Amino acid sequence: SETPASLIMIFGATGDLAKRKLYPSLYHLFRKGKLAEHFAVIGVARRPWSNEVLREHVKDSVLTSIKDAENIEEFISHFYYQPHDVSDTDSYIELKKLANELDSKYSLQGNRIFYLAMAPEFFGTIAEHLKTDGLTDTNGFHRLVIEKPFGHDLESAIQLNNRIRKVFSENDIYRIDHYLGKEMVQNIEVIRFANAIFEPLWNSRFISNIQITSSEMLGVEERGGYYETSGALRDMVQNHMLQMVALLAMEPPIRLTPKEIRSEKVKVLGALRSIKVEEVKQYFVRGQYGPSTENGEHVPGYREEVNVNPESNTDTYVAGKLMIDNFRWAGVPFYIRTGKRMTEKSTKIIIQFKDVPMNLYYSSDKKLAPNLLVIHIQPEEGITLHLNAKESGGQMMETTPVKLNFSNNDIAGLNTPEAYEKLLFDCLRGDATNFTHWDEVALSWNFVDKISTYWENEKAEFPNYAAGTMGPKDADELLKQDGFFWWPIA
Ligand code: BG6
Repeated sequence: SETPASLIMIFGATGDLAKRKLYPSLYHLFRKGKLAEHFAVIGVARRPWSNEVLREHVKDSVLTSIKDAENIEEFISHFYYQPHDVSDTDSYIELKKLANELDSKYSLQGNRIFYLAMAPEFFGTIAEHLKTDGLTDTNGFHRLVIEKPFGHDLESAIQLNNRIRKVFSENDIYRIDHYLGKEMVQNIEVIRFANAIFEPLWNSRFISNIQITSSEMLGVEERGGYYETSGALRDMVQNHMLQMVALLAMEPPIRLTPKEIRSEKVKVLGALRSIKVEEVKQYFVRGQYGPSTENGEHVPGYREEVNVNPESNTDTYVAGKLMIDNFRWAGVPFYIRTGKRMTEKSTKIIIQFKDVPMNLYYSSDKKLAPNLLVIHIQPEEGITLHLNAKESGGQMMETTPVKLNFSNNDIAGLNTPEAYEKLLFDCLRGDATNFTHWDEVALSWNFVDKISTYWENEKAEFPNYAAGTMGPKDADELLKQDGFFWWPIA
């Protein structure tokens, strides 16, 4: 197998993330032979479950996504359940006993992964107990995998980081940003650095602007409680959107090691023009969805959702203009937008190149379309290059836009692994490239905090976009003032 023996402890084993993502991903790795034959999983959570209950639960979760789950019985036999109270020392001592037993039973060499798939308020407490109650007293590796949100702002993130760094070194902390596990997000780097035709143009001389859209159709569903404290800015921009910006803007790393790649990303985040509180309005637009009617049915507005304040000031949509003040990107706006209850579920990046110096084909009233490189992150995966060509069969030298398409989804029989499968595999192998380094977290919060401070102190005129639309009008103005518009690309 391709991974070392290890004991994986999942805190929050009865929760949604474990069920939807972690169990199916582990099963995929198991079936592909990528998981060591020496592995065991301890599901840790509050409920008084037994091994059998957890195993049935894991089986159900796997069977929901995979119909022909071969060897599922063997897979689930590696799962154990430990009822747990996160702030009680005795609980950790019980857990340690079980961990040590499994360690010898499966010859796990003391390698341990602690996966915190649960409410963030317990991250610090759990990390501390793992050390003081001896769960990290083995000879193997000890890695902490931690879900977002990593803090609520820079200050709380620093506090959390200080707590977990007392137990785990930076190299052993795997902060999940699941966008970094997506096939096409990983492909950004390859498209840029493995092709001779893009990188020479990848700068302010040839690129006019970059647009990143991540839209969702769903509302906040049952996550109103969390979302009220977060909003789209903290939920999506601080992490996923800024990570995509960093990958698009970074310099070529000198080699493909986690250290080199992450340090290039850190430089980008450090070069983001910091926005003064009084300038927020110039650079950022917020939105919140209101009710609408779809096929005769009422779609609730955000303020009508469960666990949401009926006068909520929370943003469910953000559009922004980011400037990267370095030599490569001076003057090139990076526009980002993301929101709930928009027209479609889609993530795309559009790189708009500058116009040719002079249009020789300006006959009739046609303007030459600019070249665009579109990176489709999801649901389609691929790239499209928009070019101009001669209008076929025409008598005159007329141009027409053509598209070169590469679709990743078309690769025969390839079932691209889900983000979580790749990230778990990386963590088991000890490759932290596609996880967020502390320096990235800190710089992202630093950038975002200015915006949230301003927004929290100014009442918004919400709701300002109807559910099922592309967001508030002001988001169009953001580009219009620079002479651009959001490319409507299906
Ligand atoms: C999560 C956010 O990090 O990303 C969610 O908390 C959001 O609110 C989700 O829906 C989007 O991820 P994906 O992979 O569906 O684009």
